[in-house]
Amino acid sequence: MRIDIISCVPRLLDSYFDHSILKRAKEAGHAQVIIHDLRDYSENKHRQVDDYAFGGGAGMVLGIEPIAKCIRHLQSFRIYDEILYMTPDGDVFDQRTANRLSMTKNLIILCGHYKGIDERVREHFITKEVSIGDYVLSGGELPAAVVSDAIIRLIPGVLNDETSALTDSFQDNLLAPPVYTRPAEFEGLKVPEILLSGHEKKINDWRLEQSIKRTQERRPDLLK
Ligand code: ADE
Repeated sequence: MRIDIISCVPRLLDSYFDHSILKRAKEAGHAQVIIHDLRDYSENKHRQVDDYAFGGGAGMVLGIEPIAKCIRHLQSFRIYDEILYMTPDGDVFDQRTANRLSMTKNLIILCGHYKGIDERVREHFITKEVSIGDYVLSGGELPAAVVSDAIIRLIPGVLNDETSALTDSFQDNLLAPPVYTRPAEFEGLKVPEILLSGHEKKINDWRLEQSIKRTQERRPDLLK
């Protein structure tokens, strides 16, 4: 899979994809993330990509020209399954959307900044608007990294243990059960006996039970 991220502050995304699981995903050829500087598509000698809002009001707006130029440039090489725009008024991102997007081949993610982007971009280029929660960040770069991370780790082969993504929280609308590692006892704090028993069936039953209990306590909305 390939993800092209368009940003007017690309340095904010420097290095995020060069560590840990995402780095391995790239090296193994599972996922490629390419960051594009929107300013490279400006026709302006100062590389400006924003302008005042028509009708007045505070805040600058990202213009349609550089965005259209960048998207069309990318589209001249390949077909994109979706063009996402990160915005607090988009559909709230969840595991189900991550699952669906992880099965696509090519994605563009456009990061907003300032007061937003010209509405015509949203109407004519964007296929899906995504929010990562009901709070406002200074730009779409962190949301783009959040969404890309959630998607890439689901691509088969990216995680060491293939079952590992399937047992993540939210995968069956259940939160993940508690996990423990050595030592089996720390200052009198013991790991639940069942996990040391080696009895696979009983351990799986216990984990499911714990997942349900945790979901009932913390996120009863998921069980409805
Ligand atoms: N840009 C600013 N805030 C955002 C949010 N909560 N989700 C997605 N994009 C954003």
